[in-house]
Amino acid sequence: MVLRLLTLNLLSSLFLVVKCENMSVVFSWKQISYNFDGILYTKSSDYDRSGFDIVHFADDLDDPEKFFIQYNNVPIGFEQHGDRVFVTVPRRRHGIPSTLNYVKLSSAEPILQPYPDVARSQSLISVYRPRVDECGRLWMVDTGMLEVPGERKQVQPPAIVVFDLSTNRQVLRHELKPSVLVDERTPAGLTSITLDVDPRGCGDAYAYITDLATSGLIVFSMRDRDSWRIEHDSFKLDESAMNFTVAGHIISWRDGLFSMALSGRDAAGRRTAFFHPLVSTQEFSIDTEYLKTRAIGNHVRLLGTRGPLTQSGSHDYHNSSKTLFFGNVAQDGILCWRTDKPLTMNVVLVAQDREKLVYISDLKVKGDEVWVLANQIPRFVYSVLDPSQNNFFLMKAKVQDLIRSTKCYS
Ligand SMILES: *[C@@H]1O[C@H](CO)[C@@H](O)[C@H](O)[C@H]1NC(C)=O
Ligand SMILES: *[C@@H]1O[C@H](CO)[C@@H](O)[C@H](O)[C@H]1NC(C)=O
Repeated sequence: MVLRLLTLNLLSSLFLVVKCENMSVVFSWKQISYNFDGILYTKSSDYDRSGFDIVHFADDLDDPEKFFIQYNNVPIGFEQHGDRVFVTVPRRRHGIPSTLNYVKLSSAEPILQPYPDVARSQSLISVYRPRVDECGRLWMVDTGMLEVPGERKQVQPPAIVVFDLSTNRQVLRHELKPSVLVDERTPAGLTSITLDVDPRGCGDAYAYITDLATSGLIVFSMRDRDSWRIEHDSFKLDESAMNFTVAGHIISWRDGLFSMALSGRDAAGRRTAFFHPLVSTQEFSIDTEYLKTRAIGNHVRLLGTRGPLTQSGSHDYHNSSKTLFFGNVAQDGILCWRTDKPLTMNVVLVAQDREKLVYISDLKVKGDEVWVLANQIPRFVYSVLDPSQNNFFLMKAKVQDLIRSTKCYS
């Protein structure tokens, strides 16, 4: 009996190890700390110690007035460019000192520094998942919303904001018109942005912004400085895919369209956009031409069902292997699908870790690697994180190591 138990234990730990052996930790955090121009905030601080208001008289500040409440800082999005990793902390609680930040990859400790600098970072209210384009520009949506439960407040209109990473200057701020927003819930749902840059020049680019709250897609044309809204049934959640569990908590979130990933270009220069709601096990696609011309008509294709427990947040496309990678929140893992095969029966769980991949909240293909940020947010929302343990993980793996000897490998 004891022997059998031992064997079982061995087998199950072997299984876990095997499923994550190809991934390495880039950074992990027990809690988030900040470096504001050399002033370190490694624990909660009622005041901004860098300012002129160093003399304080009040002892009992209310939470909304507090500068830094460490536990409330949960990273949700990231992007990597050169030696920098950008990390966002959306303002979903009080005490978030800066929503857009970066860490040098060479840092020994991943302490966040406001981007582009302390002063200018304060023009952003709340940023989720930023993305760098082929022209070295960092794009994001600032939702403009303070999302503290019970005290939600639209501080400024939601806007697309772009920084040039070579100069760290803001090169675009496009406020979204009320006509692309359904109601007061829409701004907080604008949590991911996908970029489609014309190969002939950086001046011509489209951004596709997913709206998970009111189930739509906002398309922005850089050349026309104009945006418009597209709606379709495939952007809505699937009721039958609700109630999956993460870290033992039943997830009853009603998130619609969550992620859009673009293929490479075909001979005619056209690209396919793959997309899904979070609460769904289906995948859809559309030629981006129809998004640009505002005429999606009946061009949305249902590609099929990925399989049970495949509810996924962010996904991204690796061009040379024609493979999509999914942050599979319902199984603490990463899925792959080689897009030149039928979807159904060809989706593979290529990594799984019940500690380091619990709620992958962002996933990006960077060159020939897959990078993910996992943040255990269901535990933060429904239970409590243990600040003495590693809670947030930035992980990466080589595409070839993930897909070798699976159906995603040719
Ligand atoms: C999800 O849970 C809700 C509330 O318990 C229930 O009404 C609904 O039928 C469930 N849906 C599924 C697909 O399990
Ligand atoms: C994607 O890969 C194909 C080869 O499979 C190549 O011809 C094409 O240029 C690549 N596209 C991009 C956008 O990198």
